[in-house]
Amino acid sequence: MIKLLVRRWVSRLALLLSDWADQAREQRLKRAMHKCGPAVQLYWPVIVAGPEALDIGEGTSIAPFVHVWAGGRVIIGSHCMIGAHAAITSLTHDYLQPEMHRTMVAKPVVIEDEVWIGSHAVILPGVTIGRGAVVGAGSVVTHDVPPYGIVVGIPARVKATRPTAPEGRLSCNSGPPRVDTPLPSP
Ligand SMILES: CC(C)(COP(=O)(O)OP(=O)(O)OC[C@H]1O[C@@H](n2cnc3c(N)ncnc32)[C@H](O)[C@@H]1OP(=O)(O)O)[C@@H](O)C(=O)NCCC(=O)NCCS
Repeated sequence: MIKLLVRRWVSRLALLLSDWADQAREQRLKRAMHKCGPAVQLYWPVIVAGPEALDIGEGTSIAPFVHVWAGGRVIIGSHCMIGAHAAITSLTHDYLQPEMHRTMVAKPVVIEDEVWIGSHAVILPGVTIGRGAVVGAGSVVTHDVPPYGIVVGIPARVKATRPTAPEGRLSCNSGPPRVDTPLPSP
């Protein structure tokens, strides 16, 4: 009985310590960034190379295992959602050079406000993703995405456009969030 209690207590303590370590890493990463808005959520582990060249706007959430190569400048707007395992890179190599491992080509990536990037998407250097756009899961974005565009595939192509209200706001953002399917009770 006592053994069981001790085991439970130790595993709870281990969980608390690992949460605390994750929070400490998150705070360190946020402090290292060029700009980090309020209420940004980073679900650990998030890997950022060159955080001093990364901006993230208010209320944006970044899921676990997202990898950002920010050295060539990455600007992520407000209220964006970046799905797990997405990769965003502003850096590449010059394969025309004989020693390409010595080269580094930097092209900024801009992800405007309210963009949703699906899991496992790859955003390549020099791309701008317009406000309110959706990038489908697993897509590889090689060119700019227009505002409110929905792009899917490799290379990512526009498959549809999201509806917007006349004043330019997203129509789905007017009013409280809608739940189409009842959530299972816990
Ligand atoms: C892009 C997305 C939002 C589109 O949703 P949807 O409008 O319901 O799409 P549908 O299922 O109706 O598919 C429409 C067409 O697009 C294709 N398609 C949809 N998502 C695709 C994707 N990620 N890659 C390639 N093709 C895709 C479908 O095959 C279908 O093609 P068809 O018309 O030739 O049959 C969704 O598929 C997606 O990728 N969501 C991301 C989910 C995710 O990553 N969640 C975790 C992080 S929050």
